[in-house]
Amino acid sequence: MYSEKVMDHFNNPRNVGEIENASGVGTVGNAKCGDIMRIYLDVDENQIIQDVKFKTFGCGAAVATSSMATELVKGKSVNEALKVTNKAVMEALDGLPPIKVHCSLLAEEAIHAALWDYAEKNGIKIEGLEKPVNDIEEKIEDEDY
Ligand code: FES
Repeated sequence: MYSEKVMDHFNNPRNVGEIENASGVGTVGNAKCGDIMRIYLDVDENQIIQDVKFKTFGCGAAVATSSMATELVKGKSVNEALKVTNKAVMEALDGLPPIKVHCSLLAEEAIHAALWDYAEKNGIKIEGLEKPVNDIEEKIEDEDY
């Protein structure tokens, strides 16, 4: 049911933890299952993400997608990090069962929320970044599964 990559990231999640004095922190929740995700970003003066950590009270798919998402945004600029969508994360994991697709949204939303926090703290605007929603239920219903 789960790809080897999903199992690997679930069993050995990368970048678990928190960053003290993070440049940006984003916390989002999934209203349907109650799972919560928090992402910490350490962004340098060139707007490059030097470090990223996550914590979750979430299911296995949420853990695996967050782990992969953190790997994908590390070392990227904040603008490039915006392009790490849940679809890109799922592709990197060789797919998720359809019923678990919504779990991957938590990681994307948490990264966006952390980027938003970073942008607000620094008084900058990140092109294409929208104000995050804490309750991502509406987005779930938009997903075609
Ligand atoms: Fe809640 Fe997966 S079931 S995030």
